Amino acid sequence: MRSFDEYKSLIEDNLTSFLPDPGEHARILRESMAYSLSIGGKRIRPVLLLASCDAAGGDVTAAIPYACAIEFIHTYSLIHDDLPAMDDDDMRRGKPSNHKVYGEAMAILAGDGLLSSAAELIAGQALPLKGDKDALYAHSRATFEILTRAGASGMIAGQTADVANEGNEATPGLVRFIEEHKTADLLTAPVRAGLMLAGASEDMIKDFTTYAYNLGIAFQILDDILDYEGSSELMGKTLGKDIEQDKCSYVNVHGMNAARSELGRLTDEAKSAISSYDNSAFFIELADKLENRNH
Ligand code: IPE
Ligand code: IPE
Ligand code: MG
Ligand code: MG
Ligand code: MG
Repeated sequence: MRSFDEYKSLIEDNLTSFLPDPGEHARILRESMAYSLSIGGKRIRPVLLLASCDAAGGDVTAAIPYACAIEFIHTYSLIHDDLPAMDDDDMRRGKPSNHKVYGEAMAILAGDGLLSSAAELIAGQALPLKGDKDALYAHSRATFEILTRAGASGMIAGQTADVANEGNEATPGLVRFIEEHKTADLLTAPVRAGLMLAGASEDMIKDFTTYAYNLGIAFQILDDILDYEGSSELMGKTLGKDIEQDKCSYVNVHGMNAARSELGRLTDEAKSAISSYDNSAFFIELADKLENRNH
């Protein structure tokens, strides 16, 4: 296993090189896509994909395009999340949001471009696998995993429930649905896809799914806590928006103390699901780091 920063470098060294060339009359599209990819980001999702693949003895280098594709999808979700029609945020990753630099039309197109480029990048990985049935099967499973959890029964369902319920009464079930889909799905997909690419056992996939699910819910609860209590400078985005936009979040249904204790409980649950595996140290350390993050 490598360190978080080593996996992160593998991503950052390759990320923008996977962007397609839209041609001379559409150069601005690539610029706008590259802008949001390059201005920062913790890279948790692609690191999880590489680390999960590595933990199961897979080929980390071959997994890099899939990891970059998940970061494309995550970045597109942020560009669209910041649009005036959604959360209307002027700042992302410590810099002006995509639409503040390129305008709303280009921000919509950059999001569309990142999503379709991710699918294109993943699909292209099958081409050299002709004749290798096991590798093709692993590729198909990983592809389905990523696209399904990014899609209309995954992240987009969560974003829909989030924006459609602004101002509505937040019930515990609705809040859990939002956390599960808008956030946990995009943390679960890379873990499962990385393991699938490595040909991990079904037991290992199941245990790491429990890890990723709990980590994902915890991640959103802390994002909501930090929206009240965090530093906008450290977080690189405007805070205090959830209350202003009357969002359904764990904090406003259960209160701050309950949110803090749920964060601790979920983190413990995540760690205990995978603690018996040889390479669990990396994942336990990551869960602890995310529980204590301030950005
Ligand atoms: C922000 O995700 C969106 C949420 C799911 C809360 P991150 O906090 O991982 O954002 P970056 O990638 O580091 O900018
Ligand atoms: C966004 O949740 C989740 C996705 C982009 C899928 P938030 O709206 O809480 O994320 P931030 O706080 O803007 O990063
Ligand atoms: Mg949002
Ligand atoms: Mg938002
Ligand atoms: Mg938030």
